[in-house]
Amino acid sequence: MYVYNVMRLNRRREALKSDTCCRCGVCWLLMVLGMCLSGAGLFAQEGKKEDVLAIKQISEEAVKAMAAAKKGAAAGGSGDVYQRICMNCHGDKGQGNVQLRTPSIAGLPDWYIMAQLKKFKSRLRGAHEKDLTGAQMHAIAMSLSEDQMKSAAEIITRMPLIATQNTLKGDAAKGMYIYMDFCMACHRYNGSGEVALRSGQLVGLQDWYMLGQLEKFRAGIRGADRKDEDGMRMRESASRLRDKDLANVLAYIAQLAQQYVGELNAAAGKTTGGK
Ligand code: HEC
Ligand code: HEC
Repeated sequence: MYVYNVMRLNRRREALKSDTCCRCGVCWLLMVLGMCLSGAGLFAQEGKKEDVLAIKQISEEAVKAMAAAKKGAAAGGSGDVYQRICMNCHGDKGQGNVQLRTPSIAGLPDWYIMAQLKKFKSRLRGAHEKDLTGAQMHAIAMSLSEDQMKSAAEIITRMPLIATQNTLKGDAAKGMYIYMDFCMACHRYNGSGEVALRSGQLVGLQDWYMLGQLEKFRAGIRGADRKDEDGMRMRESASRLRDKDLANVLAYIAQLAQQYVGELNAAAGKTTGGK
């Protein structure tokens, strides 16, 4: 009996060696099970409880803000476009709102505001299916005429810049080297951007907003259209960063903001704002 069993076992081993599959079906079952589990894992990640709550909260508040903005747009007339429409989401001082995920646009250069509004309107920005915040701004831009864009840009550019804060707690000392190597050539030593290169001004934007935009560039959600040359250039720069560089480079931008926002405001004849 024992000998028979050993012989059987040996035959089995031989079979395994020669064929690598014993055709028992267990491996196949395991593979299917594995696929199911990893699928479930992906779903679990996608629908993380906090994320769902956050999106729900953003959209509920955004829906309200959007309704108010639409009402303001419908009111029309020659009144202040900013107060009627933009303020609902970007705040009375252009300071942005973390709940609504809106950037602090106060003091952005007028050429940059015009360029971005036109991109939102022509679907070069905010049209990707995963770009929930961009989609809101796309909807708003659709309702604006060129004249309304110009008057909004004039108002926003006169608002004092509000300096970026380091809320993501990155390490500015480490971020400095990354900024110098990868960002400064286009965004300048002081983060003010450069009209000739069409690069945005960074020192007034919130760090969490910039993180979101860098992630969008990296994922091809912003700057993916070949007609969006400026966006494509920025996308290439963003793709050079490693994950761990992100918070650090943003911390350095916040440091530049503490250093230069007062100066930038004074140069533009703005006295308040700053830190
Ligand atoms: C319903 C809310 C909402 C309203 C109203 C709104 N915005 Fe926005 N805006 C957003 C959001 C959200 C973003 C961020 C988009 C993203 O994540 O790419 C944004 C982004 C922008 C940007 C891009 C800033 C940057 O640094 O690239 C500009 C410029 C802008 N808005 C101008 C305006 C102007 C001008 C108005 C009024 C005519 C306006 N917005 C009204 C929600 C709104
Ligand atoms: C080759 C030039 C170039 C380099 C290098 C570059 N950028 Fe940009 N960046 C741009 C341009 C151009 C835009 C405007 C893109 C657009 O029009 O959508 C931009 C936009 C951005 C924005 C979005 C601003 C907004 O208002 O939404 C952020 C954030 C940003 N850059 C951060 C960085 C950081 C951080 C680095 C370094 C890692 C960097 N950039 C390197 C050219 C550059």
